[in-house]
Amino acid sequence: NTTDRLVVAVDGPSGSGKSSVSREAARRLGAAYLDTGAMYRAVTLACLDAGLDLTDQDAVAAFIPGSEVTVSTDPAQPQVVRIAGREVTEAIREPFVSERVSAVATNPRAREILVGLQRDVIASHRRIVAEGRDITTVVAPDADARVLLTASEEARLRRRGLQLGGTQSEESLAAQVTGRDRKDSALVNFTTAADGVVTLDSSDLDFEQTIQALLDIVAAAVQGE
Ligand code: DC
Repeated sequence: NTTDRLVVAVDGPSGSGKSSVSREAARRLGAAYLDTGAMYRAVTLACLDAGLDLTDQDAVAAFIPGSEVTVSTDPAQPQVVRIAGREVTEAIREPFVSERVSAVATNPRAREILVGLQRDVIASHRRIVAEGRDITTVVAPDADARVLLTASEEARLRRRGLQLGGTQSEESLAAQVTGRDRKDSALVNFTTAADGVVTLDSSDLDFEQTIQALLDIVAAAVQGE
């Protein structure tokens, strides 16, 4: 690898820790960080704000190019998400959005448009870690390193529970984590690794160990190129 360019693709289910792990790995690699889930969330919120029926797949897809969704990519700063300049960083994490985002994630034309926007973001950075559900397979199948970050269902429920402040019932957590993954996997397979994708199971690893394991995979992939 003579140029300094580096693209790392990370996929995984909800609660696998892929956002926090990818972000910290990006910081240590001197790379940008792209959270593609935030783009799906922001588009969902923008559609809802515009009064669109999320089940109208054509209307949703037609709306996306003009929606002016932006996500910040500096891993050293808190992520900022905007719709036409308006900050929606926190709003896109509300249950109101989480419960509805699958309607956009299962819309094939919406996915196509978002994949294009994500490729543009990746192309505009020399070094970047991009994270989501279809980065290793669709968005950046030729990335320098491709990783599927998994964790047992138990570990994923525990982490998402902590993330949400420990106030949620087990049932509500299971609906959010496992239920949404089941809905989302209709179009995208993010539970088994595609050819050439390295699986990293973080069930028994802490945050630092997971980052080290990811950085080791990246180093090995870059060496092997
Ligand atoms: O990772 P997250 O919970 O922020 O993702 C939000 C939603 O977007 C979730 O329903 C999965 C979907 N998603 C997707 O389908 N493809 C991606 N590359 C990223 C997220």
